[in-house]
Amino acid sequence: MMVATHMQGKQVNDKIFAASGAANRAIAQLGREKVVNATLGSIYDEQERLACLPVVEEMFRALDMSEIVNYAPVAGLPDFIAAAQKATFAGCRPDGYIDGVATSGGSGALHNAIWNYSESGDAVLTHDWFWSPYRIMTVEPNRRLETFRFFTGDNRFDSRSFAEKVHLLLNQQESLLVILNTPAHNPTGYSLSDSEWDSVIDILRQTAKTGKRLTLMVDIAYIDYAGEKNASRKFMTKFSGLPANVLILFAFSMSKGFTMYGQRTGAIIALSSQKEVIDEFCTAMQITGRSTWSNINRGCMRLLADIYRDKELVARADREREELYQLIRRRANKLVGEAEQCSLNILPYFAGFFITVPARDPDRACALLNQENIFCVPLAKGVRIAVCAVPEHKIPGVAAKVARAIEQAGGSQ
Ligand SMILES: Cc1ncc(COP(=O)(O)O)c(C=O)c1O
Repeated sequence: MMVATHMQGKQVNDKIFAASGAANRAIAQLGREKVVNATLGSIYDEQERLACLPVVEEMFRALDMSEIVNYAPVAGLPDFIAAAQKATFAGCRPDGYIDGVATSGGSGALHNAIWNYSESGDAVLTHDWFWSPYRIMTVEPNRRLETFRFFTGDNRFDSRSFAEKVHLLLNQQESLLVILNTPAHNPTGYSLSDSEWDSVIDILRQTAKTGKRLTLMVDIAYIDYAGEKNASRKFMTKFSGLPANVLILFAFSMSKGFTMYGQRTGAIIALSSQKEVIDEFCTAMQITGRSTWSNINRGCMRLLADIYRDKELVARADREREELYQLIRRRANKLVGEAEQCSLNILPYFAGFFITVPARDPDRACALLNQENIFCVPLAKGVRIAVCAVPEHKIPGVAAKVARAIEQAGGSQ
């Protein structure tokens, strides 16, 4: 064994990539038409080709070679950071001090938040349905992931469980980082309502009276597929005027909104009522960035900056993305409709790439679905169906087969 002691015995267990590998083997054997590949979190068009916004492709190909090969500042190109802020907030910029630092996608933003806003050994809090890499992202730097119950019995945000968990953890530690993935949450498609946001903010305000440090990281990876631009960002204005010991972070990513998954470009954006908190944030983020990946993909940063220099280009990107959004909507509506008909108990879906069904034995349910050439991702407590990747004509019948597989595998919890 050659790895250092802290890495010994650790295993890679990425069920998402394992499930997509199985789907690809089935496709190679049987042909694409016979297989439903609902595993990967990228948008595929109706011909099952990976979708890319045409304006993004055009501008990326037109980039000057020096913009592709050159280094960039560790903090990111300044006009990229300005563009990332515009893309994050649109017409809903909260009042306060705001700045951003480039990161390796939304993942990099999450990594930097965990490293800089939680203490070694402490808990980081998120909802009990969550994007599985949150776990390894917290455990790797010697934190642990704690969860609160996301949904009440009637499928609304469980603010009571959230408050209880915040209080419990703050009885044990001096600061707390909370990660909330909304709107168009992965894996359920849930979006917190305005009143649910009010209760989250109220809980943060009340808790801040203890004087302990609270950081809320809002993972907005799917915000561009959550509905009308400003309606899905309205909650952001509620963050104005928070106490000095409450910091709000956003994980901005070009992966989904600009279909540039592999270019690894994003930013961590911070909002505080205190200028010193933002200055300190910029310093900390640059140190972590420098010591982790040095600097970020210059070509992709230039691309976003160029789009945001021209209102027409922003409008074009919005129009092209709207088509992808409608594509996902049509597929999701069909699946949700069929789920209702066959009493398949899906988690509350509003928008986004995935629909999830609770299951007692998700691995077994997915294995049974594989026998029908349907490939989904087994989560800890459910089966995730990536509607972003399945063409509309393959949706009919999927809900009934999922219902049957879950039933055969012991039911839905
Ligand atoms: C919930 C969630 N957050 C963050 C990300 C990070 O994406 P990236 O690092 O590609 O920006 C993803 C990607 O799948 C995601 O599903």
